Amino acid sequence: MDLRARYAMPTDEHGDPVVELRAFTHGLMPRSVPAMMERFCRDWRERGVDAWNAVDTRWQRGDADEDGGPETGWWRLPELLGDRFVAPLLDAPPGTCLWQPSVHHAVQCLLSSPEILAEHRRKVVVTENAFPSVFHSVQRWQDLLGLSLTVVPAGPRGFVDREAVLDALGPDTALAALSHVGFTTGERLPGAFLEEVAARTHEAGGLFVLDGYHAAASMPVRVRELDADLYLGGLLKEGSGSAGNAFVYLRDGLELTPRLTGWFGDAEPFAFRQAPEPHPDVRRRFLGGTTPVASMYHAVEGVKILLDAGLDAVREDALAKTTRGIARADAAGLSLRSPRERRRRGAMLILEVEAADRLCAWLKRRGVYTDSRQGRFLRMAPFVWNTEAEVDHAFDLIEEATRTGAHCEAPLPDAGGPVT
Ligand SMILES: Cc1ncc(COP(=O)(O)O)c(C=O)c1O
Repeated sequence: MDLRARYAMPTDEHGDPVVELRAFTHGLMPRSVPAMMERFCRDWRERGVDAWNAVDTRWQRGDADEDGGPETGWWRLPELLGDRFVAPLLDAPPGTCLWQPSVHHAVQCLLSSPEILAEHRRKVVVTENAFPSVFHSVQRWQDLLGLSLTVVPAGPRGFVDREAVLDALGPDTALAALSHVGFTTGERLPGAFLEEVAARTHEAGGLFVLDGYHAAASMPVRVRELDADLYLGGLLKEGSGSAGNAFVYLRDGLELTPRLTGWFGDAEPFAFRQAPEPHPDVRRRFLGGTTPVASMYHAVEGVKILLDAGLDAVREDALAKTTRGIARADAAGLSLRSPRERRRRGAMLILEVEAADRLCAWLKRRGVYTDSRQGRFLRMAPFVWNTEAEVDHAFDLIEEATRTGAHCEAPLPDAGGPVT
């Protein structure tokens, strides 16, 4: 798959090319982004306030993009991006997906909706390795809502203990919130298991929430088959949409009235009535105050690339590259932490190595960008912009370092900030 030309390839401080293997953190910038940001400036400059009502549509798939298309307004963008770009990622019907500023915001909206609770239904089931946007949010609302939180401990090698999750679901389950692909393990949960979780949760009248940040845009997701009530994710990573661009899918017919809603989620915001009234389109209620429109100009340039290529092809490409990486890891006698089976893999490949943080720094000095966790795990995700030669080059270096121990003496980087 040769999509490389559609991305601006990164370089180091000397202008030399580097190998970016951190698709799971922040995707490369699509080449079309600067033109989109210029369009934002132009729309702002030329239309001013009126851009809220009408700008030429820059968010279309296909050639219409070149000349702009029929008009839309900044006001409509959260739904438009949801329908045109998020829905195809999830195989979701029109009217169910909405742009969000972050996953955190969507979770907070959900937790602020009184419909999630009933007298006998207070239990929230999450797994130990849920991302803080979900995990911390639930804990922060716990006492206020009287939630009883069940955190299912991880099984062997940190993978989700599926039996324990199923056992935790009962008639008192208000929410079951799982990660489709685990951010610490790279484990993709199988469809049959997720359907079973959905069935048990629904039996109790509860809601099934999937955090698909590491699934959507790196593989086809069929949200209706999974029977999720809410599917959350973002475009920052494999989607190459950068920050400020997340999304929520809300199952058709779901009735939620988030208290966290803002005037952008009101039925008639410009009536400025004294009493609020929820917007009739439930997804619109997940909007707060004035939406930050600049980020929406770079939101879907990467998604366009992936949808043009086809998500099946994107998935196959990622699997081929992780397969290559796993073969190289096996040959070098390295310990694989992420799943080996194709169907259980996400886009991420994780190795368990000594001094992973130093190895990560050692690789970075040689122009290969990975990341490390807890000094034990080296994470990488060879994605559509990487070549097989880059995967081989990364593994040549990893093999050399782990064979000689060269990295163990390497200084830890002064990253200049907390991001890992
Ligand atoms: C699984 C998962 N969920 C959520 C997030 C972040 O969501 P947000 O910052 O939009 O709340 C991440 C980011 O790394 C993630 O890996």
